[in-house]
Amino acid sequence: MAPIGVFDSGFGGLTVFRRIVERLPAYDYLYLGDTARTPYGNRSFEAVLRFTRASVEYLFEHNCPLVIIACNTASAKALRTIQQRDLPARYPERRVLGVIRPTVEAIAARPECRAVALWATQGTVRSESFRLELARFAPGVRLVQQACPLLVPLIEAGELAGPGLEFFLQKYWRETIAQDAEIDTLLLACTHYPLIAGRIREVVPERVRIVSQDELIAPSLEDYLRRHPEMEARLSRGGARHFFTTDISEHFDELARAFLGAPVQSEKIDLRC
Ligand code: DGL
Repeated sequence: MAPIGVFDSGFGGLTVFRRIVERLPAYDYLYLGDTARTPYGNRSFEAVLRFTRASVEYLFEHNCPLVIIACNTASAKALRTIQQRDLPARYPERRVLGVIRPTVEAIAARPECRAVALWATQGTVRSESFRLELARFAPGVRLVQQACPLLVPLIEAGELAGPGLEFFLQKYWRETIAQDAEIDTLLLACTHYPLIAGRIREVVPERVRIVSQDELIAPSLEDYLRRHPEMEARLSRGGARHFFTTDISEHFDELARAFLGAPVQSEKIDLRC
């Protein structure tokens, strides 16, 4: 097998994974969620890089020629080092792709998105990765960034609706428009937010378009494989899906099912980091 590896800090990446396998069902896949160390959102660059490196190496050891980092925080803090240092030195034949570049490219391709608000973890916002990529690919687009540190814990606690969640959505939206009242697009750039996209829609005015990142990654991967037939030819096509996690908590099944929309049978593994 030469599967496509998909990595996330935990369960959240299953929202991205789900869209990828819907669109590209023929390939084999290995999903690795670092549930023992999740969330990454408030962790240092050094820690996120160490954990992400160990996870990518694990997927390489399991014969993945291509790894997708589905986590924004890991894409923001670790991807560049892995691409620029680790791959040329140790794995010149392998590729690792993140989620920030394809998201920015999708925004750049939509001329109606002129004033964008980004909702993401503290780590993604502080990294300034979206700002840097937008400056390169869509220099005319205005960006405001809003860290939403309480959304991941609320979602992981199963608060997918109700007054508690609504309070924080209202607060984050107020803080967003205080930065720029003319926002035309809200970009949801965190693996967990697709689960509450409906609730966010209720809080954000109709005139603001909501772009949910999970919808953007699968078409971008399909396009990548079309443009890189040498990589596509290396991937095996048995339709297999395997799930690895670094911890199995008591409510693992429930959460994994919520993110994937189907039951998940996961194997617990230990990472060297
Ligand atoms: N996967 C993370 C992201 O997309 C959210 C969860 C976390 O903080 O680890 O940024």
